[in-house]
Formats: sequence, structure tokens, C-alpha cells
Amino acid sequence: MTGKSKNVKKSEPTVAVQSKNEVTGTGFVVKIAVASVVFFLLQTLAHRGIEQALGSSHVFEETEPFFTIENFMDDADINELRNFLYEKRRFVTGLDAFSDDRGIEHIGEGVDADENGNCPKDLYRTEQGNCFIPGRFDIGKHFFLSGGLTGAKETYEKLLSSIYAYYGILPKDFIDTSAILQRLFERPQYVEAMDTLCRNHGQEDYYFKPTQVNIVLVTPGQDLPLHYDNGWFWGANRFTIPDYLTVAMTTSGLWDHLKIRQAQSVVYLHGSEEEPVFKHGGNYVFYPDGPGGKMRQLVPKRGMGVIMDGGQIPHGGQRIAEHVNVANHGSKDQFHRVEYQSNDTWYIMNDDDIISVVNTDDLRLSFVWRGLCFDSKEHADTYDSYPEIPLEEILDTFEADMKKRGVLPKNAPRPPPKEFAHTLIKTYISMPPQNVHNSLPFNYCILSKEYPWLKTILSPFCTDVQEYKRLNDELPPARPFCGGRMSTNCPEE
Ligand SMILES: [Fe+2]
Repeated sequence: MTGKSKNVKKSEPTVAVQSKNEVTGTGFVVKIAVASVVFFLLQTLAHRGIEQALGSSHVFEETEPFFTIENFMDDADINELRNFLYEKRRFVTGLDAFSDDRGIEHIGEGVDADENGNCPKDLYRTEQGNCFIPGRFDIGKHFFLSGGLTGAKETYEKLLSSIYAYYGILPKDFIDTSAILQRLFERPQYVEAMDTLCRNHGQEDYYFKPTQVNIVLVTPGQDLPLHYDNGWFWGANRFTIPDYLTVAMTTSGLWDHLKIRQAQSVVYLHGSEEEPVFKHGGNYVFYPDGPGGKMRQLVPKRGMGVIMDGGQIPHGGQRIAEHVNVANHGSKDQFHRVEYQSNDTWYIMNDDDIISVVNTDDLRLSFVWRGLCFDSKEHADTYDSYPEIPLEEILDTFEADMKKRGVLPKNAPRPPPKEFAHTLIKTYISMPPQNVHNSLPFNYCILSKEYPWLKTILSPFCTDVQEYKRLNDELPPARPFCGGRMSTNCPEE
């Protein structure tokens, strides 16, 4: 024992001297420098490789027009619209807000859920108990893989709680009857924007037909994932075919002869006259040069208007209050909403559970209207009765094009519907993978969804969802809300 200790003691100074030389010597510095360069190059290559794999290098021939108008809406009008928030009181998710009657929702992959209500892999359950590829699968796929516009490194379960935005729909005739909108429509900058977006070449006049008018609330910790708006065509739209097909019809360029031009306008309502910039960030991000073009960002500022064709330009919103680890929102199949209480306090609710509390100040508020551009009112009036393009005809056109491009083998039959839909989304709907922090554009945390054993290994590098918590015992009861899909504390009649 003693002898061994002696030996060790003897060797120690030698080791120490060697280390000292290594640490301070020129050789060591060179090695570190080389290793750093190699690491940097590998990281850059991985970054580029992932960008290429997840995104698109497609650049438009011309920059798509977009318009920003400072102080588009004046303060009196902003306040009038904000009063609508307090009167309406309840704002619901897009799923509930836009659940109008749907036509065909799948291209043949649809099956019934099994006796336990479960769907096969890659298919998602609807309220009616059917299993489909969801209409906006294209948005979800890109969001979960890329980590969204902030490049989040978060588990699938966590990101599922970060995709909520809440809507209040205004009647379509609001657009014709509202004095606020009439004032905006007369602004020369708006006229110029709509003239550019709505006119075809050489066209004398146009008629703008609104399809939606709403107010959107986004709460802290929520993303507005990058997307293209649904496409609209003579004979095809989101009521006749799945949403992702309307987008692919636009991005493929194969139906340009039937495409209807569209415009979406956003005006921000948050903040105050003194502090117009939203305190929780959440920039508007868009790519007017195409998915392979330069990222543009706008700081959401009270009263500012942003007008563009969202069917043509990929766009989205950076996460609001990035540092907030959002509450676990529970099952996506439950009734999610925000409800106004009083004193600028809002409850985020899931069925009967209160899961979070926010102030009006914390909400990113925008007023949005979108619509289609027709040659004339008469032209617009014929739209609804225009004969539908059969789904099979649309699928045949995509199939022929993918065979021409070499995506599908020429003489083979069309792949089964689920596989065909995934190939189609991958081929035609590509979005930029970059994020506002220019960090690695791949959310590796998503791997644990496919390979659950990876969850523990990845856990130090990934944010997971919080435990589901019901705050009902800690807060005053939610103010009664009677009527609608679900009443809150509504007294029995
Ligand atoms: Fe949009």
C-alpha cells in the first residue's frame, strides 16, 4: 500500500507538468482552435443540411406585395373594438370558431375510431369519432419538427400546449355596416394595397367579398405557427376538399387559372397610446420572397395595419412572452377558451377547469378580416353555385405532376391514400425552417414521440409539459357564462 502510494506521489509532479505544458503550450491552443473550427463547420453543415431537409429553397420570381400602414386605426376606433372584447367575453379556438359545415374531409384514408376511441398511427380523431389526416397537418408537421419560429426544443406534449389562439367571430355584414371599417376602407394606403392585391392585370375594377371578420387573442407562451392561408379556387375550397389540398393547389401552381385572389388585413389592438409596442414581443414573421427567401419581421404595434395575400406568403407569429412555460392545456379534444371575468382579468379554461389567469395587457390582440377578390359583385355571386371540381380529378392532376417530377414512379399505381397525402404535403407545401434566433432549426425533442425510450436521454435538453393543474380551488369561481357549446357556472333554469 505504502509503496503504491509512494509511486503515485512520485508520478504526480510529472503529470502536473505535462498538463501545464498542454494547457499553456502553443500546440494545445492550435488543437483547440482546429477543434473549434471543425465543430463550427460540422454544426454549420448540420444546420444547413437540416434547413435543406426541412425547408425549401424556392424563391418567387417577384416579391409578393405586402403593405404596412402605421396608425391605420385611430385610438377611438381601437377602444371601440376593445369594448367588444369585454362584451363578447368568450373567445374560442379555431376548431370551434370555424366549425362550419364541412364537405369532404379526407381523400380516402378515413376510418372509424376503434372501440376504445383510438385512431391508427398518423390519423387523428374528429369529434364525430372518425380518424383522418387533420386538415392543417402541414402546419403541425412543420411546427413540431422545426420548433416553430422561436426554434423551441420541446417535447411533442409541451408544444401541443403552445398552439392555442382564441377567436371571436364578427358577423360578415359587419364589414358593410361598421363605420370603423368604412373609415379604414377610405384610407388611401388601404385603397392602394387592395388595388394591388385584388386587381388582375388590366382589370377595370374589382369586388372584395369578405369571408371572415374576427378578433384574435393570443396569450403568453403561445405560438402562431408558420403557415399559408387556405387557397380558394373556382370549384374548390376548404368546404369541398381537405385544407392542405387547397394550400397545395396554390403552392403547386397547377390551378392558377382557377385561383381567386385574396387579401388578409390585420390591425393590432393591444398596448396603449403611450406604449403602442406589445410588451411580450411576438413579432409577425413572413416571407414575401418565398419560403427560400429572406425572413421579414414586424413588431406588432397598436393601430398598425398589415395587408397581404396570406395564401401566397408563408406567415406566422413568434411566440408571445417566450420565457413563459405555458400551463398544460390538457387534451386537445376538450373545450378550450378564454373568458373575461372583470378588472382586466381573463381565465384560460379547459372544459370546467381554470388552467391559467392573464391580464388584458398580456394579450396580443388583433382585428382581422380576409376575403376574396372578384371582378364584380355579379361575378362573386356566382361563386357558390359554381360546379365543384371532383376530388378525384384534383388527385389525378397531383399524381400526374408528381410522376412528371419523378416523386412517384411513372408506371406504378397511386400509393394508398394516407401515403399519397403525406407525399403530396411533402412535395408541395414547404416552409422555411429558420427561426428568429437563427438557432438549430430542428426540434430533436420530437424524436421521443416516435421513440419513447429517448425521452429520458433527451430530458436535460428538452422542455417538457408541466403537470396538468386545475386552479379552481385557488381562484374565485369563473363568472357565469350561459349558452354556447358549454356553459360556465350557469344557474339551472
Ligand atoms: Fe394566416
